[in-house]
Amino acid sequence: MLYIGVDLGTSAVKLLLMDSEGKIKNIVSKEYPLYFPHPGWSEQKPEDWWEQTKVGIKELIKDADKSQVAGISFGGQMHGLVILDKDDNVIRPAILWNDGRTYEECDYLNNVIGKDKLSEYTANISFTGFTAPKILWVKNKEPENFAKIEKIMLPKDYIAYKLTGVHCTDVSDASGMLVFDVKNRKWSKEMCDICGISESQLAKCYESYEKVGTVLPEIAEELGIPATTIVAAGAGDNAAAAVGTGTVGDNMCNISLGTSGTIFISSKNFGVDKFNALHSFAHADGKYHLMGCMLSAASCNKWWMDEIIGTKDYGAEQKAIEKLGENHVYFLPYLMGERSPHNNPNARATFIGMTMDTTRADMTQAVLEGVAFALRDSLEVAKSLGINLERTKICGGGAKSPLWKKMIANILNLKVDVIESEEGPAMGGAMLAAVANGEYASVEEIAAKVVKIVDTVEPDPALVAKYEQRYQQFKEIYPACKPVFDIITK
Ligand code: XUL
Repeated sequence: MLYIGVDLGTSAVKLLLMDSEGKIKNIVSKEYPLYFPHPGWSEQKPEDWWEQTKVGIKELIKDADKSQVAGISFGGQMHGLVILDKDDNVIRPAILWNDGRTYEECDYLNNVIGKDKLSEYTANISFTGFTAPKILWVKNKEPENFAKIEKIMLPKDYIAYKLTGVHCTDVSDASGMLVFDVKNRKWSKEMCDICGISESQLAKCYESYEKVGTVLPEIAEELGIPATTIVAAGAGDNAAAAVGTGTVGDNMCNISLGTSGTIFISSKNFGVDKFNALHSFAHADGKYHLMGCMLSAASCNKWWMDEIIGTKDYGAEQKAIEKLGENHVYFLPYLMGERSPHNNPNARATFIGMTMDTTRADMTQAVLEGVAFALRDSLEVAKSLGINLERTKICGGGAKSPLWKKMIANILNLKVDVIESEEGPAMGGAMLAAVANGEYASVEEIAAKVVKIVDTVEPDPALVAKYEQRYQQFKEIYPACKPVFDIITK
């Protein structure tokens, strides 16, 4: 049998074809535009996601035995608000996970409704990227659109709907909406009331590895796949990436270096961090996880390379970096504001510490290190909760860089296990489809069977010590800059 994993990302949809044994047969990527209509806003068109997913699936399976395609599932960019009218047409462009427009609604949720109540109802507090403040933003700023809402969906769920005609979502992605009672894995009546919506406007919520339907006959014909092909609910991209890297069960860690950067810690038990600095979400394996999310990770390096330095040869720039742990330049990676742990849409990216002898390589190094230091900020929160980690998996575009992996290993003092494929969410999506189709009894079973570690980057104690000093300095920069961020974003 063959399974298609769809990673509906922010810059592109990545599609992966996997056989029953977990062998990757093909990978295809199709880009679509990202719109920034105002500073801090971030939108995409769901219609673009669907068109490019169809183009990608056709290309993915063009040389495969199409009759063997048995299942499709997803890892999807989380939190994005997709709203459909009574005819299931998209009402307005999707407002994405890295959009910062909802600071007033977040302020209302966190400070008028109150963080304690939000945490009691959902296990989380409000961040600008989460879905509930976006629902309130549409209600407040676009009442004519709010009045038309028949269904509220998340990005990957729109693709599942177009494939099957079923309005569905899954527990891991629903967790990031702030209208979901994470502990009890069901919609929160209280949060629906606060947002002014009814539960019937939300999709039916499944476990990630459950079948939601089969592909509609006309879509099956268009794609050239059997009409018996099942569609599984899938997961938010980070939970799917965790499945794809075998980060399931208890106390396992995965770092994703994509457009966003996340540190994901799986747990058999439900738990909440007292200050809600880490997200407490349901996992795609039927259990739970904690997660820290930075809004700009590999995208910082992409911005620095493509927009500022003006090169596509990332490898050549990284080759010039020689002295790890000794850089006097620091970079705060807050190009889109920051989520974990600062929760500040007004935070901005900053270079600090340059002198006349600073080189281009020092600046590039600072960008890569700044992302690793910011991930360490979230790891510190996890440590403060008594979570002890010795190792992590890694995935995402940034995981292709040996230098960046070395920095992560030494700045976070974790052994970094490298998986055969860094296509975490797409692989996880295909694995969830295989479980939904009954080829494996559980997500843990398929992960144990198909995920292979091919290398481990070990931290070097001397370098860990040097980076420890640097991290202690890095930690001082954000609090010092915060008042200035407030002034310059007024
Ligand atoms: C997680 C988050 C991001 C997006 C990126 O909370 O917002 O990782 O899912 O696609």
